[in-house]
Amino acid sequence: MNSNSTPDAEKQRTINICINFRAGNLLPSCGAVGSRELADALEAGIAERGLPFTFKRLHCMGKCHIGPTVKLSHGGPFIMGAKESDVPQILDWLEAENFDALKAAFPLPKVNLNLEEDY
Ligand code: FES
Repeated sequence: MNSNSTPDAEKQRTINICINFRAGNLLPSCGAVGSRELADALEAGIAERGLPFTFKRLHCMGKCHIGPTVKLSHGGPFIMGAKESDVPQILDWLEAENFDALKAAFPLPKVNLNLEEDY
């Protein structure tokens, strides 16, 4: 724990990223919108900067239509819809442990399923 770390920051040390292609790429998925490229760039950047995060590639976190899906654990925010070109900024915020900025820049959309309006 460095002197600037908060207890919450210490718990947010794993970056989980979905790299799934659903149904052979027939259904919306994180893999279809660049999550594997995002994962490679994030992992390389974390290693290059020596940031204290572990990195896990996962197969689906249930947010397939709005990915790429990234989740900081334990208890950290989702980072939704980031692109490979966003990686330098993401790494800057990770390095600064500014998880609020990550959450604000790549929010988990609120979904309103008012199906009665559509049917
Ligand atoms: S395919 Fe990524 S969350 Fe389901």
